Amino acid sequence: MDLEMKTLCEPDGIEVNTQPFVLIIFGGGGDLSQKKLLPSLYNLFKLNKLNNDSYILSYGKKERTQDQYRELVKTSIENSFQGEKVRIEDSFLEKFSYLSGDSEKLEEIDEINKYICNFEGIKKYQIIFYLATPPNLAKNILNLIQKLELCDKHFVKKIVMEKPFGVDTESAAKLNKNLNEIFKEEEIYRIDHYLGKETVQNILFFRFGNSIFEPLWNRSFIDHIQITAAENIGIESRGNFYEKAGVLKDIIQNHMMQLIALVAMEPPANFEADCIRDEKVKIFKSISNMTDEYMSENLVLGQYGTGKINGENVAGYRDEKNVNSDSNTGTFFSGKFHVDNWRWAGVPFYVRAGKRLNQKLTEIVITFKIPPLKLFGNACRDMLANELVFSIQPEEKISLSINMKYPGMENYPHPVEMNFNYSKLDTISLTAYERLLVDCIKGDLTLFSRQDGIEEMWRVLDPIVAYFNKINFKFPNYSAGSWGPEKSKLLLEKDDRKWRI
Ligand code: BG6
Repeated sequence: MDLEMKTLCEPDGIEVNTQPFVLIIFGGGGDLSQKKLLPSLYNLFKLNKLNNDSYILSYGKKERTQDQYRELVKTSIENSFQGEKVRIEDSFLEKFSYLSGDSEKLEEIDEINKYICNFEGIKKYQIIFYLATPPNLAKNILNLIQKLELCDKHFVKKIVMEKPFGVDTESAAKLNKNLNEIFKEEEIYRIDHYLGKETVQNILFFRFGNSIFEPLWNRSFIDHIQITAAENIGIESRGNFYEKAGVLKDIIQNHMMQLIALVAMEPPANFEADCIRDEKVKIFKSISNMTDEYMSENLVLGQYGTGKINGENVAGYRDEKNVNSDSNTGTFFSGKFHVDNWRWAGVPFYVRAGKRLNQKLTEIVITFKIPPLKLFGNACRDMLANELVFSIQPEEKISLSINMKYPGMENYPHPVEMNFNYSKLDTISLTAYERLLVDCIKGDLTLFSRQDGIEEMWRVLDPIVAYFNKINFKFPNYSAGSWGPEKSKLLLEKDDRKWRI
């Protein structure tokens, strides 16, 4: 059963920002830039969402000429179109300049200053620093930014910080202190690209824009919640980063915590950035610390071994480039969390994420309680619980399963699905990074994390990381192409439940 989309009013589209900007990307040749930032900037350019008067300075460790860097920009964009032929306009490529250097040595300050001061009417540009770099480089880069003369001038300046923000509560607080020496809180954009995804934003809209679900959105009607972020890719070329981060710091501390908050939070006083962020922080605060005993029963860490993905043999994690051959880094996590507040007491939030799993699948499943009575006699097979599924990837859709009577003399229940699929909408929606870049340029902080939220998320994760550090794992404990360690399946089965997929 498909739901038709009726438009009540024509959406305005995404406003074009009129303010010119200079974007300075640290890590301009890195994985994130190549996969996300450069293609996103190009798409925004094509959609006419970027002010023509905008420029990008990329900074990276590797020496490259301007032409070589522009070639890299081109290739990154072509790759994002999966090899499809794209003719990339010179007027786009000409926006890019490249500077190589070692941020530890602060040698490039003059060069960056010179670059910025070359702009006529420099004060009309906002300067956006983008740290597309691992957390351990942040301090040096901030030192470099602090020494730039431009910070004393009257520019609008902003900084975008990639996740993970710090590596634990303490380092996140220190990093923030460093940041605050240069930037005010409203100039700091702590990015979590999950918040830019259309279906993720729709969670709040769906909950608070419909009166039929919110009365049921609590412990009286909801049995449990499942949140899955499964990937079939491995760690690709990110061994150095991943060895330090692992699944806990790469995905759980940020993306998964944000999804829990959006599902669980109370309605905000209004839709302004701080009101939404206030409610999210309350949820993080309601997630209680877990004892070692609880963690050993209810949390699972895994690491992939060899296996098959789409019929192809793939290497195990320990054989990946830049990974220790006896590494204990987790590439899979599943666990049962509790949001201990009035609305959610007793409702488990099962969370699962990992690399080299069976398929790419990101979804949130709200499983409602089954009806209190079996009214339909012996002819009735067990009713299935109603499930509301927010599919985030690979398809962006929302579906609700309901039980119908199968036509005939008997009372056989027949589950059907009501579906709404975003791909059916005849409209262009921005990808997560595109959306967040536009928000940052416009100065809208709603979809970015605030420092207190970051620290609360670390407060939940620190004991989990510490607990797993004490364990002597026998890794690998799941094959590439599976759904993770057997214990992850048992985590739900011992509660008489199972993962939807
Ligand atoms: C990033 C992680 O934040 O999210 C990556 O660092 C992961 O390891 C990626 O692959 C997943 O994002 P998406 O949008 O593909 O689910």
